[in-house]
Parts: sequence; structure tokens; C-alpha cells
Amino acid sequence: MASAASLTLFFCFFPLLIALAQSVEFNLPGFNASETNLTREGASIIKPTGVLRLTNKAQNVTGNAFYYQPIPMLDGYPSACRNASSFSTSFVFDIVPSSPGLGGYGLAFTLSPSPSFPGAGTEHYLGIFNSANDGNETNHIFAVEFDTVNGHNEKDDRRGNHVGININSVNSRFLKAATYYVNGTNDEDLALEGEGPIHAWIAYDGVQKVVNVTVCPLGTEKPTKSLISEPVDLTSVVKETMYVGFSASTGRKSSSHYILGWSFSTNGEAPALNTSQLPTTPVEKSSSKSFEPKITAIIAALSVVTVLLLVSLISLTLYRRMTRDENLEAWELDYPHRFSYKDLHTATKRFKESELIGVGGFGAVYRGVLPSKRSEVAVKRISRTSVQGMREFAAEIESLGRLRHKHLVNLQGWCKKKNDLLLVYDYIPNGSLDTLLFNPKDNFVLSWARRFDIIKGIGAGLLYLHEEWEQVVIHRDVKSSNVMIDAEMNARLGDFGLARLYDHGTASHTTNVVGTIGYIAPELARNGKASTSTDVFAYGVLLHEIATGRRPTDSGNFFLVDWVMECRQMSRILDAADPKLNSNYVVEEMELILELGLLCSHQRPGSRPTMRQVMQYLNEDGPLPFVDDERSTDCQSIFETNASSTDCQSTFETNARILDVISKDSILTSHNSSSIGAISSTSISAGR
Ligand SMILES: *[C@@H]1O[C@H](CO)[C@@H](O)[C@H](O)[C@H]1NC(C)=O
Ligand SMILES: *[C@@H]1O[C@H](CO)[C@@H](O)[C@H](O)[C@H]1NC(C)=O
Ligand SMILES: *[C@@H]1O[C@H](CO)[C@@H](O)[C@H](O)[C@H]1NC(C)=O
Ligand SMILES: *[C@@H]1O[C@H](CO)[C@@H](O)[C@H](O)[C@H]1NC(C)=O
Ligand SMILES: *[C@@H]1O[C@H](CO)[C@@H](O)[C@H](O)[C@H]1NC(C)=O
Ligand SMILES: *[C@@H]1O[C@H](CO)[C@@H](O)[C@H](O)[C@H]1NC(C)=O
Ligand SMILES: *[C@@H]1O[C@H](CO)[C@@H](O)[C@H](O)[C@H]1NC(C)=O
Ligand SMILES: *[C@@H]1O[C@H](CO)[C@@H](O)[C@H](O)[C@H]1NC(C)=O
Repeated sequence: MASAASLTLFFCFFPLLIALAQSVEFNLPGFNASETNLTREGASIIKPTGVLRLTNKAQNVTGNAFYYQPIPMLDGYPSACRNASSFSTSFVFDIVPSSPGLGGYGLAFTLSPSPSFPGAGTEHYLGIFNSANDGNETNHIFAVEFDTVNGHNEKDDRRGNHVGININSVNSRFLKAATYYVNGTNDEDLALEGEGPIHAWIAYDGVQKVVNVTVCPLGTEKPTKSLISEPVDLTSVVKETMYVGFSASTGRKSSSHYILGWSFSTNGEAPALNTSQLPTTPVEKSSSKSFEPKITAIIAALSVVTVLLLVSLISLTLYRRMTRDENLEAWELDYPHRFSYKDLHTATKRFKESELIGVGGFGAVYRGVLPSKRSEVAVKRISRTSVQGMREFAAEIESLGRLRHKHLVNLQGWCKKKNDLLLVYDYIPNGSLDTLLFNPKDNFVLSWARRFDIIKGIGAGLLYLHEEWEQVVIHRDVKSSNVMIDAEMNARLGDFGLARLYDHGTASHTTNVVGTIGYIAPELARNGKASTSTDVFAYGVLLHEIATGRRPTDSGNFFLVDWVMECRQMSRILDAADPKLNSNYVVEEMELILELGLLCSHQRPGSRPTMRQVMQYLNEDGPLPFVDDERSTDCQSIFETNASSTDCQSTFETNARILDVISKDSILTSHNSSSIGAISSTSISAGR
């Protein structure tokens, strides 16, 4: 025994007598899918341009990529005195959020005994841990997380933008807000998501047992001081050989996680990445990042297109065989969010009655659980008798699918089978605003602060549709039952653009007024032409609904906007405030909302503000103009140009007709208003 121990000690002090573990070094400035340098799992892909993408912006996905060979990590000494090998790595990553500030979950540089993580969780589990193995020493996992959402289990409200060192657990052993040191002293904030590629270095010293993590924007020189330099002993964490690589996950919030280049070395400094050889992050349509008109970008785009075309051709043949009755055409394959009919059929339990959460003008909505992701979705089923116009449908859906905003109910994808068109949306658990206002559970009263936030949220969503996206999208059916309230009580506008979609299919030249009574602007009822200004009108009505807690109209003679105007004329506008609030509101805010509602739902389109102006008023960036009373008395003034008395006459007729439809419709509403889905239960199409 004694001699064995001294022999061990002897070898410890004379390392040269023992063959040291082989050191490994590689330098990958970009990746190549046809080479086998990486093993990948989950959502990760290598783009033709050489970028590794761990996850796309889909929700609840994981993706990882590891160097194909396991790397010896325990040096060659006898076990009594051996330490984990030193290593050093340098890589460039880019996290592109699904919408600014709303990206989710991070990526992690990971050392693991296996490159495969069956059952790994999404969100803060980063695709490497799950609730069952979190914290278990048998994991043998070392990870450095670059996280964009709040640390798991953190009570304080700290911002998510952090770097952490994790051993066997999602709970970081060390954690620091992401910053970098300029000129050795200045501490600069570094946004991990949405602000371009980031260069990171991680070094572990196996003898000193220290981990250093350093970050800075790509193109800046490596800071001389590390962000994290902490004592960590990996000796009992690593196994004989380990896989090294990256893992990322998304959750309810999502981002595309890209790795642009990577070098690694055991026992020595990682080779410097030649930054001029790195591929660039693909320009994603929904992000508003700068477009650099570089030739490289064009070449990259061209090669993407070529590959896409090839892939389309190949998969066209494959898909045709696999799914005969879904009648796929080439143009359908380009679309990324396409679900299989079978999956949606299973998800909704064969469109079972019990899963039905609403019926609306465009179709029935079912709750579903996608088997692949185990995530909940709302599936809207639109039955159509004619396949005509399908191509236009597809183009429309594709463009709607690319709309991404914090205050919109995102369209995740779609599917077509014979005459059924299925649209898949985020499932929003708290239901619609109209339920919260008019049929709340347990007499719940939405507080004024919440209402004000909801008003701003819907405004931001509409502004995005009208002005901030690449093309103008008119919602056409703004109303309280189309506003969903998510778990954090954020307002999210649903059903946008659907009306236009519906128009496409009808292939007739008659104009259809699509909208909901009480929210239809006078000029829309007259000429059937929806515009951003008719959306603003409906938004104005919605403001009154939220402030007063009353519906826009009953089927009798009550018209909310007129009533608020009457209160104003009597200089008692606050009488209109929702009595359920019990005077618990900020008077200035209440007045602002009621006045703004009057301005937005002004009879003359030209007098209504744009959504940008609305947002300025809401943020108190400017005084609200005085709202004159131009309603009801003078028909002529309703229309800006050349309205004749016959026009007036026909408007009243149209209105009468719509009213007719609506009174039936509101009965339907009261039955369905407890439903949750992103559906319009009161959409009507008049004039056909
Ligand atoms: C990827 O690797 C293959 C095979 O090694 C090679 O032919 C091809 O040129 C490489 N592509 C790129 C973009 O480097
Ligand atoms: C990557 O894989 C290719 C072929 O699969 C090989 O020639 C090359 O040496 C590998 N590079 C590294 C850094 O392992
Ligand atoms: C850790 O994981 C091992 C193997 O998976 C299991 O046997 C053990 O019970 C786990 N320990 C704890 C504390 O969960
Ligand atoms: C860093 O130092 C250089 C010169 O020493 C100076 O030009 C530069 O502005 C400094 N950068 C910052 C961010 O302070
Ligand atoms: C880590 O940082 C400390 C302090 O900056 C430095 O002394 C040490 O050499 C670094 N270790 C490695 C492995 O880079
Ligand atoms: C392992 O690390 C300890 C200090 O943590 C050091 O004393 C010892 O020499 C190291 N062993 C080897 C084989 O380098
Ligand atoms: C980096 O790559 C570019 C282009 O391939 C090359 O011209 C340059 O010499 C390289 N720089 C270094 C430091 O290797
Ligand atoms: C994602 O997963 C979480 C928990 O696993 C679940 O609560 C959430 O509804 C899912 N969301 C989506 C859109 O899949």
C-alpha cells in the first residue's frame, strides 16, 4: 500500500515519465454542412453560408451542436493527483430576437459526456438539463450561459442580459450582467441579443482552477480584463473524455441563435479566429437590423436561394409521396411554418367538440397540443368550398406569418387539406379582453393601471401593423374580443389581416364590409374601403369600452361614443368612467383616454389621428387637439367630399342592414364570450 502511494506521488512529480493526454486543437471560422466536424441535434442547422444556427425563432425548441470527437479532459496522471485539462476557446455568436427586446433564452458553451440530450427542457433548461436531472452531480456538465432572460429562480427583477457559469444545474454558480472592459477600466454594457455578433473567450486553468470568461462586440479588441474570473474546480466534473459544443433553447420568448466561428484548444491558448473569414448573420426579415449592401451578402443570398430551390424540388417529390391528399404545390414548400394535417388533427383530438374554444366569422377555433413540441396552440379552421384563390391565400399567410410583435397574437403556421385551411396561432391562456371586461370570473375588476397598459399595448400593436412593418397591414376587425390577454397581462391583438385574406377567396367584385357593428367607421359602411383610419376609428371605440366598461352598442339605441360625447358636452366626462373602478383611477389619464376615444372615432376620417400620433398622446408627448362635435346632426359633414343626400340615405340603409345582422350576432356573442381563442365571434360580412 505504502509503496503504491509513493509510486503515485512519484509519477505526480515526474509527469514526463507518463504519456500526457493528447491535446486537441481546432479552428473553424465558419462551418460546412458537408463536412462532419459537428454532430447536431434538435433544431440546429448549418446554413449554406457557413453559419451554424442552433435554434430558429420557433417557440419551445432546443438545438445543439458538438465537435464530432470526444476530447480527453483528464490529463494522463494517476487519478490521485490528476486535474481536469486546461482548455481555451474563442467563438463568435449572434442572438437575433423574434422582436426587439423580446428574444428569449440563451445559448451555452457546454462540456458534456455525451453530445445528445434526450428529454432536455426548453427555456432556461437551455436544451441540456431538465427538471428531473437539474442539479444532479451525475450530469457531469459544465456550461457557460449567455442568457437573455432573467436567471432561473431569481427573485429580484434583474435584467436578463447575463453571463453565468453553470455546473450540473441551470442555477448559475457565478453570474454577471454582460459588460466588457474598454481600455482596461471602463465598464461598458453589452446587449447579448439583437445588437450584432459578440466575440467570447472562455479559458480554464486546470492547475490554478480558475475560469475566465471575456466578451466584447465583434471587431473590438479582446478586453484585457475578463468579465468573469472565478475559482472553479472541474476535476470532479469532467469525465475522461468530454464533448464540447453549444446548446440553445427558446420558450415562449424566442430568438435565432447563431454561431459564426469557433476555435478550441486543450493545453494552450485557442487559435485566434480570423474575423474576416467569418460568415455573416443572415438578414432576417422580421428584424429591423441594418442592411449592408455588401456583395458578400448578395452572394450569400443567392446561394441560399439556389439551395432553397434545390431543396424545394427534392422535398416536393418526397412530400408528394408522403402526403397525397394535402395537394401540395411547389409554392407551398417555401413556406417555413407549415404543419402537417396529421399533427393538427392529433393536436386537436380530431377537432373534437370539447376542444372547441370559439366560433367566429372566419371559422371555428380549437385548442390543441402539438405532439412534437408539447406546446399549446390555437388552431383556426376555415372551411372553404372553393380552392380558387389558394395561391393568394398562401402569399397572404406567408406575409402575415412574418409579422412578429409583442402585442400581436403570432401566427405560427398553417396547413391546407382539401378545402380546409388551418391557421395555427399562439395559445393565449387568459382569454380575451371582452371577457375580462364584461364577463370576468369571480367579479374580477381590471384595475385602471392594467387598462392603461392594455390601451398602450394595443396601440403599439396597431402602430406596428400600420407603420412599422414592411408593408401597411390594416387590421379591419379591431375590437375587444380580438384582444387577447396573456399570462403577464399584456394585450395582444389577434386576427389581424384576416379580413383581407377572406376577401381574396371570394373572387367577386362586390365590396364586402367586414367588421363588427359598433366599430365600423361611417365611411367604411358607405364605401366598404378599409383603411388605417377605419382601424383608428375602431380603436377609439375600444378606448371607450375599456374606460367605461360598456359595450359599444346594445341592439337598441345606445351608442357608446355618442353617450361619451353627451357626457363631455355636459362637462361631466368623468361620469362616463366605469363605475366598477369605484373612482380608483388617475383623473388625467381617464380624461385623456375618453377624449382620445372621441378624437379617434371622429366621424370625419381626416380629423382622426394616426396611430403614431395616438402613441404620442398616450405618452404625453403632445397636447390632445380639441375634439369638435361633428356627429349625427349634419349628414353632409360626415363625408369629406361631395356627399349628396342620396349618399346619406344609402348610408343609413346600410347601417340599418348591418344592425340587423348584429342584433342576431350579439346573442351569439354572449354565448361564446367565455371562450378563449383568437377568434372573432362577431365578425360580419354585409353587402353580399
Ligand atoms: C464544404 O466541404 C466540402 C467537402 O469537404 C467542399 O467540397 C466544399 O467546398 C465546402 N464548402 C464550403 C462553403 O467551404
Ligand atoms: C472537418 O472535417 C473535414 C472532413 O470531414 C476534415 O477534413 C477537417 O480536418 C475537419 N476539421 C476539423 C477542424 O476537425
Ligand atoms: C441523480 O441521477 C442518478 C442517475 O440518473 C439517480 O440515480 C439519482 O437518484 C439522482 N439523484 C438525485 C439527487 O436526483
Ligand atoms: C480607449 O483609449 C484610446 C486611446 O488610448 C481612446 O482613443 C479611446 O477613445 C478609448 N476608448 C474608450 C471607449 O474610452
Ligand atoms: C484569468 O484571468 C486572470 C486575471 O485576469 C489571469 O491572471 C489568468 O491568467 C487568467 N487565466 C486564464 C486561464 O486565462
Ligand atoms: C493539480 O492541481 C494542484 C493544485 O490545484 C497542483 O498542486 C497539482 O500539481 C496539479 N497536478 C498536476 C498533475 O499538475
Ligand atoms: C484572414 O483572412 C483573410 C482572408 O482569407 C486573409 O487575407 C488574412 O491574411 C487573414 N488574416 C490572418 C491574420 O490570418
Ligand atoms: C412552451 O412550454 C411551456 C412550458 O413547457 C408552456 O407553458 C408553454 O405554453 C409553451 N408555449 C408554446 C407556445 O409552445
